[in-house]
Amino acid sequence: MDPGQSGTGSGPVTASGAGSGFDPNVPNAARMYDYFLGGKDNFPADRAAAEQVLKHVPEVPLGIRENREFLVRAVRFLAGRGIRQFLDIGAGLPTQRNVHQVAAEHAPGARTVYVDNDPQVLAHARALLQDSPEVRVVQGDLRRPEEILAHPDVRGHLDFGRPVAVLLLAIVHFLPDSDEPRRLIGRIRDALAPGSYLAMSHVAVDERPERAPDVERIYQGASAQFVARRSGEITPFFEGLDLVEPGVVNLHQWRPEHDAFDPRLLGVVNYFLCGVGAVR
Ligand SMILES: C[S@@+](CC[C@H](N)C(=O)[O-])C[C@H]1O[C@@H](n2cnc3c(N)ncnc32)[C@H](O)[C@@H]1O
Repeated sequence: MDPGQSGTGSGPVTASGAGSGFDPNVPNAARMYDYFLGGKDNFPADRAAAEQVLKHVPEVPLGIRENREFLVRAVRFLAGRGIRQFLDIGAGLPTQRNVHQVAAEHAPGARTVYVDNDPQVLAHARALLQDSPEVRVVQGDLRRPEEILAHPDVRGHLDFGRPVAVLLLAIVHFLPDSDEPRRLIGRIRDALAPGSYLAMSHVAVDERPERAPDVERIYQGASAQFVARRSGEITPFFEGLDLVEPGVVNLHQWRPEHDAFDPRLLGVVNYFLCGVGAVR
């Protein structure tokens, strides 16, 4: 952390503690996200890149807050459907209301595995989240789903013979088409028992396609590269799932629990799509 910054609450996690691959001078997608959320786990390079993004799309923090609200509603919904095992891939830096905390409120004893490929995310998650026997933190890369699914800590903590909810929130838009995201998502889906669920969210650029190249360019120099997609390119990622109502919609439209949305969202075309689907 920057000198004098407090991180997320349990003391600083140093660069050396973060392991290889940690570079405060390279904008980092997880730390930029933290900055957009108003967090303190970010460095000047992250803040500079995030501020550039905001010049093109000032509504980013609004979308990201909606994404976290979707996470809470989706986990609550899944707990209500009897899910007691969560695999959160691309978990991000710990923040408020992390998956296992929401799950614990609605399904005491539920187990969660957090997966990320970012060394700083892993260091923070291990320091801040793995304080409960229900939680594991695992290094893994969505581009290699077999390794995640075969990881001993994943297998040891989750029983894939029973339903599991996999969360892919705000991560698939970091997979280029050359990584074949549909195939990768399909590998995970096909490894899940009937009664399992997959929840996903993905930025959509339908609203401001002309600004997408600038945002992509900013992320080119970051730890993960944002890929701009329109709705028509995102909905196929949900194929093979039985989507729960209301299907693939903007974040604030997915099973809303109150009517008091930020007025800036009214009338907005697709800006950040999400959905939850049951595995057949
Ligand atoms: C924008 S954050 C999303 C955090 C959280 N899922 C949420 O929705 O609030 C994206 C996270 O995905 C991680 N990530 C990006 N590409 C990844 C990959 N190929 N495998 C695993 N994690 C990845 C980043 O390190 C970052 O922590």
